[in-house]
Amino acid sequence: MRTQVAIVGAGPAGLMLSHLLHRRGVESVVVESRSREAIESTIRAGILEQSTVDLMAEAGVGERLKREGVVHRGTVLRFGGRDHRIDFEGLTGGRVATLYPQHEVLKDLIAARLDAGGDIRFESKDTVVEGVDTDRPRVRFTDKDGRAQTLDCDFVAGCDGSYGASRPAIPQDARKDYLRIYPFGWFGILAEAPPSAEELVYARHARGFALISSRTPEVQRMYFQCDPDEKVDDWSEDRIWAELQARVSGADGFRLKEGRIFQKNVVPMRSFVCEPMRHGRLFLAGDAAHAVPPTGAKGLNLAVADVYVLDRALGRFYADGSADLLDAYSETALRRVWRAQHFSWWMTSMLHRFADASEFDERRQLAELDLVTNSVPAATALAQNYVGLPLGA
Ligand code: PHB
Repeated sequence: MRTQVAIVGAGPAGLMLSHLLHRRGVESVVVESRSREAIESTIRAGILEQSTVDLMAEAGVGERLKREGVVHRGTVLRFGGRDHRIDFEGLTGGRVATLYPQHEVLKDLIAARLDAGGDIRFESKDTVVEGVDTDRPRVRFTDKDGRAQTLDCDFVAGCDGSYGASRPAIPQDARKDYLRIYPFGWFGILAEAPPSAEELVYARHARGFALISSRTPEVQRMYFQCDPDEKVDDWSEDRIWAELQARVSGADGFRLKEGRIFQKNVVPMRSFVCEPMRHGRLFLAGDAAHAVPPTGAKGLNLAVADVYVLDRALGRFYADGSADLLDAYSETALRRVWRAQHFSWWMTSMLHRFADASEFDERRQLAELDLVTNSVPAATALAQNYVGLPLGA
């Protein structure tokens, strides 16, 4: 089998890249380990930056997003027992964040690829990326019927997440990995309940961070900072609600609307970057190259921003044989990646409880929250980063 670009992984990076390349007439095949059903039903985070929304619309996959996505014109930072709102729209000249869960983005992209005759090999196993130092790289895998397949190509796009086969195809001595592990995780729940707030609420409390988000008018997503090794089975429904209520309580009498909890999971918190994001004919994008803690809601958006750059670089190569944008890919993508790393770390450090924090650290943290919610330049910095830099900026 042969294609121009072999794409490993059918997550947001891989599918969006395949779609964008198709629109400029470049062929790709996507090799994915999971089934279509598993991809379309795994519930992940759901905040899209303005430029992610704009790109989906420009690329012809934004119709359902426009209808069903919920526009968030601001967000709430809750500390000292009350709400402090950040007005994204007013502070950024009209840019907003949109709540549209990742699996909905994936459904739209999969449908668009399959409608256009795109080739996605779901349920592929034993994927190996080879020959990326040569002019003839390839991806080998076992297809869902158990047949060994070799996909020859011009380039490999490694979009297969933190634990995929792509990153290890870059030799350890040809890359540098930057890793920071946080001493806590997020305990996430899905509950059948009406929304407790109109906008997302990021709450800082002496017991630890909590986040109020939403999925649909009937299903709410909430998180609270926990031990990274916390066992979900140790947490009864009553215990979870008591903890969440405690962390958002305040003099204003705010209460969460409770309901049946039907999913619980613990999300680890890490910051990670692999540099460079390119080795020979292999280009990493999305979580294969980097991970952020979820506090800044940047994971999916960074994946989309990477492939926006990669699509243009591959487009230039196939249009006139010029490799200049491909050569610049890693540096171009990493600039945004490190900005997002800083923002995600900053939001995390400002809102979480650190076990080794002194009383001084706690007062300093509150002063920082006071600054970002009361100084227009500081609030603007938060808002601009949250709704996202324009693509190509
Ligand atoms: C979510 O809705 O799952 C969500 C929203 C915002 C975040 C992280 C997760 O920062």
